[in-house]
Parts: sequence; structure tokens; C-alpha cells
Amino acid sequence: MRDLNNNVVKTIARWCLVLQAIMISSNAVALEEPGYVYMNVTIRNAMTGLIRPEIVYRCQSKRKDYGWHRASKPGAQFSFPIILIDGESKIPAIHICEIRSALGKATLVIENTYLDAKMCPHSSCAHEATPKGIVFRGLELDFKELFPKPKPVEYLELPWTSWPNRT
Ligand SMILES: *[C@@H]1O[C@H](CO)[C@@H](O)[C@H](O)[C@H]1NC(C)=O
Repeated sequence: MRDLNNNVVKTIARWCLVLQAIMISSNAVALEEPGYVYMNVTIRNAMTGLIRPEIVYRCQSKRKDYGWHRASKPGAQFSFPIILIDGESKIPAIHICEIRSALGKATLVIENTYLDAKMCPHSSCAHEATPKGIVFRGLELDFKELFPKPKPVEYLELPWTSWPNRT
């Protein structure tokens, strides 16, 4: 009987150690610094079929001004890398890009989280200036699926606001 009790005590003691180890390691995970991921934000000229296809644009975040850039022909593009908090899907990095063309002006608000970095490796997503306006072309998670998976998408983000008529 004493032996049996001893064994029970030993087993309980062992389980306590295991539990403690689990608790310490999960604390360590919670205290760990969050990781970061990078992605490129890309603005591309896709002003096909126009006599004046040129676009100019300036992107800014709260902290950084990327300055004015020019993409004179369809196909020309500009990318800048942004840093995102890994695993954080509720606090997006916000960049505002003002894009100008012969057809008008568009002030695009771009919100990215690490999910976009996962969806858009190697600059595979872009904001394209087209004659209709700014079109997003890339991959997005299809949340209509039970297990959301990346799906190619292409949609108009923002039409041009035409320049005031000078008559
Ligand atoms: C961003 O673009 C640059 C230049 O095209 C490339 O070297 C870099 O690997 C890209 N970064 C990502 C995260 O796609």
C-alpha cells in the first residue's frame, strides 16, 4: 500500500513538472517580441491606349514621404518596401498615394497587414493606374471559403476625379 502511494505521489510530482514547463514556455512565447514581415507596395502605369499615358505619384505614411515619381509609359512602376507586424491583422500600415494623370487625380488610401505580405510575395500585387482609375491586381484571401485560400482578384479601387474644366 505504501509503495502504491509513493508511485501516485511520484506521478503527480512528474505531472506538476510537465505543467510547469508548459506554463513557463507559453509565458516565454507571450513575452517574445513580435516579428516583422516586409512587402513591397507597387504602383504601376497601365494607361494603355492613351495619347498621354504619363502618371506622376507621391506616397506618404505618417512617418515617411516617398516623394514624387514619374512613370511615363505603360509598364513602368515604382515599389517601396513597408514593414508590417507579423500576426497582427487588425492594425494596418496606412499609406496614402496621390496619383495624377491626364484623366484626373486619385488619392488612394492603401491599408496593408501581414496577411497582404503573405498574399503578395515578390511584389506580386500592384495598384495599377488604368484609364478607368486605380485597379488593384493581385491575390486576396477568399473568406467565403471554409478554409480561406488565396484567389486572384482585380477590381477598381478608385476612379479618377477629373480635372476641373478650363473653359
Ligand atoms: C521588393 O522589391 C525589391 C526590388 O524589386 C526586391 O529586391 C525585394 O526583394 C522586394 N521585397 C519583397 C519583400 O518582395
